[in-house]
Amino acid sequence: MKVLVVGSGAREHALVWKLAQSKKITKLFCAPGNAGTVLQSTNLNIKASDIASLSTAVNELGIELVVVGPEGPLAEGIVDHFRKTGIPVFGPTQAAAQIEASKAFSKALFQQYGIPCAESQTFSDVAAAKDYVKLKGAPLVIKADGLAAGKGVIMAETLAEALQAVASVMESKTFGTAGEKVIIEEKLRGKEMSFFAITDGKTVLPTVSACDYKRIMDGDLGPNTGGMGSYSPPYFYTPELGKKIISKIIEPTIKAMAAEKRPYQGVLYAGLMINNGEPKLLEYNARFGDPECQIIMPRLKSDLLDIILAAIEGKLESVQPNWSEEVCVGVVMASGGYPGDYKTGFPISGLDDVDKDVMVFHAGTKVGNKPREVLTCGGRVLSVVATGKTTEEARKKIYANLPRIHFEGAQYRGDIAKF
Ligand code: AMP
Ligand code: GLY
Repeated sequence: MKVLVVGSGAREHALVWKLAQSKKITKLFCAPGNAGTVLQSTNLNIKASDIASLSTAVNELGIELVVVGPEGPLAEGIVDHFRKTGIPVFGPTQAAAQIEASKAFSKALFQQYGIPCAESQTFSDVAAAKDYVKLKGAPLVIKADGLAAGKGVIMAETLAEALQAVASVMESKTFGTAGEKVIIEEKLRGKEMSFFAITDGKTVLPTVSACDYKRIMDGDLGPNTGGMGSYSPPYFYTPELGKKIISKIIEPTIKAMAAEKRPYQGVLYAGLMINNGEPKLLEYNARFGDPECQIIMPRLKSDLLDIILAAIEGKLESVQPNWSEEVCVGVVMASGGYPGDYKTGFPISGLDDVDKDVMVFHAGTKVGNKPREVLTCGGRVLSVVATGKTTEEARKKIYANLPRIHFEGAQYRGDIAKF
């Protein structure tokens, strides 16, 4: 089978790395990919957002399955497109991807179907939004409605900050059209985790779950990023918690989406807050998490292709994948200045100097002009991943290997999976 993975982050590199282990795949492509995906696949120089050119390439190369990594093309209808042309494609349709692409849509869905989440209201009028902020008082969480690369959420600790956040989203349009509507939400307390389910629209197949570190600095300080590291499983995870998440949140959502004529196929990623063993939903994403995917794929012992094909064919109930008992930890190396402005084009050295059992998944990297040269070209540059019998063992392995990799301005957190 010829397979195309769409995207260029470390999530997509992890998907390519895992799919490359499948004996059923004869040829693997990644579009546009990066300097890491070339190690296991052939990069196609086509942007993930360019659905027309992807479609042409799929026809010309005889690609038989498309696996979509990022949310952008899902929200743009890449799945609808390939379904129309008869190419098997893994991911939700445009209508189903609204669960991530519009927080106003998803919050309304949770409220209508009684899915436990933070109390909130949605506004398209600035004055009304500000009145609500004054009524509720701080702390509040202010969210832009649309896609904002994980940055459209502002945690306001004071009333002044909350009012400023509403103005920034709706008046200064810091997140562009994503901020035409604003969601104002109660601040939930507890422990945060990411739960992933693969679904064909009926059957829910959970993967192992994870924790993500969203802030740029140690101790969860500084601004939010796309994610600076993660580990699996969360130290507070129990099978009882997993059962609650599935029965109270995931299954009702899959049923709700079917009832709303937006049947959901693909990966459903629930961002959850756990308080006293009770899960509440923060948000859904319509895809694997990044950096979570990079630490979930190494724990999957079964063939990812079998799971994907079963989800597409509506036969997920027949699949029972095996997961490794080992803990997996991943740390993101980012460009200096990220998540603000940063420079790119710096050579990366030491990529071959890491231990054999340490995985380096590439994100913002590209192949340079000199032989074997790899250059930085994005904010998050690499995900460095290791497994171990304990969290401490995996953590030690990573932090012993990270200093061997260099690029100018590199930054990473020192406290991933440290409790
Ligand atoms: P989201 O994009 O909605 O997942 O929000 C990004 C991050 O903001 C989450 O991962 C949480 O850390 C935080 N967050 C979002 N909503 C809330 C909330 N209602 N209460 C507390 N933290 C939140
Ligand atoms: N890990 C955060 C995200 O993928 O949205």
